[in-house]
Amino acid sequence: MSIARPLPHDAAHLHVTGAARYVDDIPVPGNTLHLAFGLSQTAAGRITTMDLDAVRQAPGVVAVLTAEDLPFEADCSPSNHDEPLLAAGTVHYVGQPLFLVVATSHLAARRAARLGKVDIAAEKPVLSIAEALAANTRFEDGPRIYRKGEPEAVLPSAAHRLSGSIDIGGQEHFYLEGQAALALPQDDGDMLIHSSTQHPTEIQHKVAHAIGKPMHAVRVETRRMGGGFGGKESQGNALAIACALAARQTGRPCKMRYDRDDDMIVTGKRHDFRIDYDVGFDDAGRIVALDFTQYARCGWAMDLSLPVADRAMLHADNAYHLDHIRITSHRLRTNTQSATAFRGFGGPQGMVGIEKVMDHIAHARGLDPLAVRRVNYYADHVAPPPEVETGSAAVTASPAEDNTSRGAQPVPAATLPAPPEGVQTTPYHQPVTDCVINALTDRLAASCDYDARRAAIAAWNADQPILKRGIALTPVKFGISFTLTHLNQAGALVHVYQDGSIHLNHGGTEMGQGLFQKVAQVAASRFGVPLEAVKITATDTGKVPNTSATAASSGSDLNGMAVQNACDEIRERIRAHLAERYQITEISFAGGKVRAGGEQISFAEAAASAYQARVSLSATGFYKTPDIEWDRIRGRGRPFYYFAYGAACTEVVIDRLTGENRILRTDILHDAGASLNPAIDIGQIEGGYVQGAGWLTTEELVWDDHGALKTHAPSTYKIPACGDRPEVFNVALWDQPNPARTVYRSKAVGEPPLMLGISALMALSDAVGACGPAYGDLQAPATAEQVLAAVERTRA
Ligand code: MTE
Ligand code: MOS
Repeated sequence: MSIARPLPHDAAHLHVTGAARYVDDIPVPGNTLHLAFGLSQTAAGRITTMDLDAVRQAPGVVAVLTAEDLPFEADCSPSNHDEPLLAAGTVHYVGQPLFLVVATSHLAARRAARLGKVDIAAEKPVLSIAEALAANTRFEDGPRIYRKGEPEAVLPSAAHRLSGSIDIGGQEHFYLEGQAALALPQDDGDMLIHSSTQHPTEIQHKVAHAIGKPMHAVRVETRRMGGGFGGKESQGNALAIACALAARQTGRPCKMRYDRDDDMIVTGKRHDFRIDYDVGFDDAGRIVALDFTQYARCGWAMDLSLPVADRAMLHADNAYHLDHIRITSHRLRTNTQSATAFRGFGGPQGMVGIEKVMDHIAHARGLDPLAVRRVNYYADHVAPPPEVETGSAAVTASPAEDNTSRGAQPVPAATLPAPPEGVQTTPYHQPVTDCVINALTDRLAASCDYDARRAAIAAWNADQPILKRGIALTPVKFGISFTLTHLNQAGALVHVYQDGSIHLNHGGTEMGQGLFQKVAQVAASRFGVPLEAVKITATDTGKVPNTSATAASSGSDLNGMAVQNACDEIRERIRAHLAERYQITEISFAGGKVRAGGEQISFAEAAASAYQARVSLSATGFYKTPDIEWDRIRGRGRPFYYFAYGAACTEVVIDRLTGENRILRTDILHDAGASLNPAIDIGQIEGGYVQGAGWLTTEELVWDDHGALKTHAPSTYKIPACGDRPEVFNVALWDQPNPARTVYRSKAVGEPPLMLGISALMALSDAVGACGPAYGDLQAPATAEQVLAAVERTRA
């Protein structure tokens, strides 16, 4: 059985030897051309003249294209058709592509792109959340509001009341492999695209549109990405479209990759947020009513901002039961990069809001923040999820154009089931039927010795004039499913060859998260063969069509099940054939053998026998998540099939004179259900935590007053390095089967662990709180500068 084994990543040996092929490593024909964009230096305005003579005359340049030269409308948007490939008339941010250079080398294209002389009649850009509110620039007519209970009525009657605000910075994805695409013209105008993308179907759909062909004329292949983190859900569209258009025009293969600075300047990042809160609570710190206002800075185009902002609202409760709650969400348009998906997809920002509230209440009441968290937790409750008639979900398909992206908007579902008696519900009225956060917190608090260490830290801080330590234990409850219900589907294609070897293909993409290995383990175990019998192959729109992005952590849930279904179909055909041949119904597949009564043959012999009997050994598989429906306009329903839980305890030390700080120790207990592969899942948890802690501590994006991003290279943008890993880092799996009927009862693990990093921010806030009597009020990211400012505020 290959399930549940801690096997290494299937390509680990290729990653570490440098032999793994990424888009830029694919050998290309000698006549391949290379592309670069000329970028806007102005954040907002109207293009008056574009003088590109010097660009055209530069060495190696073959063609230069502007918006006017494009044969069809070339739109890169995953949602709203508001992202022209090249600026047409107006510009909206510093870094927006204005023209496209096609040249004989990467360097020649980049050098020439610098020579454009573009005059722009500049307008005053809208850059910040405050400016967007003042100018009322937004993506929906007004704010979206979800509510449960009577928050407005209950708030004034609470025993205690607090209000506050937190600024939460954005985050650069910093995938190690930058955005890249390669277009190879085929017979009769068809196009083969290699793209570093989480969403090959979206690339196919956008390229087909841009070259004026049906989707069948475009095939997209993705073997792997060197990291995506949400930054390759939509941000690869521009490069693939540019390559296809240039290849169409020149008849030659075309390749494009952004260098690091361009990648950071051109592409969207995590949404920065401001979250205001007004909370009422009792003596024990139990929340009686809460009012959140979330402001999301979405950038210049819509991209995936609406579902991102929705998910922030859907995680405003995190692991806490709230009877009276209102969440108001503003989706603000600014003259900055168009913010996009990033691991957690808005969930992390929503959770930071309520974790800040917990700490603020604890400070106000003089309580241990963990005690405040515990009194507010959802009650533990484990039962299979209620079954919902999915047929009633009126998710009418949007126009085919928009049908593949998370940004598309369905017509809302009309009917919703009443929550089962006695079950707590979320602010969006979903029953919480799988909660384990209390038991999980108990086990982690015991294993990390939380109470004793908190007391020891208080004693230590009392003696230390300069260094102060802090500790925080924070929970995660993360909803699993795409909130756009129709995206919760997947397909697979499996072939068994006559020698018993297996060709595996599905719609998921590999970005380092280990999806391909986990799904191969599923295939191997369905046939009872060793993992080596299964060949993992590149994602290919010609093999499995109409796929969703590998996103929302749903890759293994969806594709694992689709593959299971395909394998079971073939296995059943082999079984029926052998049942006939041996005149026996008891047939089992295990250990590379097939047993039929007393007979035993190898799986290869079984495959050969089935082939000779003219049995088809190829099958497609399909899966759609059951029991979900969601009305995003009214904020009611069951958007998530289940929740993934986890908790982290982080200890930090700060220097109160400089604000410098370090993570000393981290303990994590995380719920990956019955893990398909504990080694890969622990890797996801460690990486997610470090990425989350980086977001909230050292990773700071700075724009100047003209809207230019000043932090566009590792010299100025500080991601965690090996040395920033906690000195003591204990990670364990909760390891209980998922009550929902997922593949081998596993749980999604891609995004949830990022939010364990919130414990680092709260531990810093705890250390700041040791510096003076007033509340530390730490903003994010908690850079040394921010920590120092918060230390100053505690004196007030
Ligand atoms: N892990 C690695 N190594 N690289 C990545 O790019 N992306 C994350 C997460 N883990 C990512 C990663 C994000 S944003 C998501 S949605 C999931 O992986 C997607 O993969 P899955 O659905 O197979 O978990
Ligand atoms: Mo992940 S942000 O859902 O790609």
